[in-house]
Amino acid sequence: MNKITVSAPGKLMLMGEHAAVFGHPCLVAAVDQRMRVSVEFIKEQILKLHAPDLKVRSYIKSIKELGNGDIPREVKFVEMAVKNIVNRYSLKSGLKIITKSEISSQFGFGSSSAVTVCVVKAISELFNLRLSNKEIFDISYRTVLDIQGKGSGFDVATAVYGGALYFKNGGKVIEPLSTSSLSLIVGYSGIKADTVALIDKVKKSFESKQDRLDDIYNEVGSLVDQAKGAFVKMDWESFGSFMNKNQELLKELGVSTDKLNDMINAAIKSRAYGAKISGAGGGDCMIALVDEVNRKKVCDAIKNVGGEIIKVKTGAEGVRIE
Ligand code: MEV
Repeated sequence: MNKITVSAPGKLMLMGEHAAVFGHPCLVAAVDQRMRVSVEFIKEQILKLHAPDLKVRSYIKSIKELGNGDIPREVKFVEMAVKNIVNRYSLKSGLKIITKSEISSQFGFGSSSAVTVCVVKAISELFNLRLSNKEIFDISYRTVLDIQGKGSGFDVATAVYGGALYFKNGGKVIEPLSTSSLSLIVGYSGIKADTVALIDKVKKSFESKQDRLDDIYNEVGSLVDQAKGAFVKMDWESFGSFMNKNQELLKELGVSTDKLNDMINAAIKSRAYGAKISGAGGGDCMIALVDEVNRKKVCDAIKNVGGEIIKVKTGAEGVRIE
């Protein structure tokens, strides 16, 4: 085999953001927007990258120099993923990589972690390394940490495993859950958020209130554990009320915005079971859990306050060979 194409899904955080970075559990789901990556052997000892969605036409780097020098932001995840797997398994070959994304980088659906997972999976298949999902997760998570410095890795786990997961920082726990009847609405607030900046912002604003921050994270962790029970029983009314309690704590962390609050309140008023931000906050998306009969009403209410409805389905399959 000289060439392989793989794909991996984007993600949504259902509950537990921010606390997740500090060892608490979270609940996450894969969405049906996918990243596709093809990798091919080439003779020259170079990485040749074509990523048209990111306006990267032909990026070339010697295999020996991977990770060195100034690396453009758009190619960082691919280059570092190649470097990490090539170094770990002493692989020898030039590689041509083409990426194609359905995952808009604007909404915070995890395009960077999905591309990282795809590169690691594709190279492992091409070289017949027979890596397990956990090994693919570990190399991909290492790559994300090399670049971002922080993050729980939930986005990487979702790209690898798909479906819905109960997850603990660094992959200490990765437990698949069933999502057969999860009925979510996703609303985009129109503002692109920066996860690392938001994690730092929370840390800074609680500098003199560390005890309260610890309490909030403990409360979030406990809500996630209770919500997991409701999720498994498909008790959406209870799950929604846990989402609402989680949102109150996220507000206290200072990561919700007026726009997101308006969208969330509009959803609740229109009889959503629950609604909250999804992810780091500061922009990006909110989610609302609904009974199908209320879907249109809730969508209209979110649109009326200026939100954009993003059509996605949860529970998509994890990384796979195409
Ligand atoms: C960002 O989508 C969610 C955070 O919890 C970061 C992470 O878990 O990696 C803020």
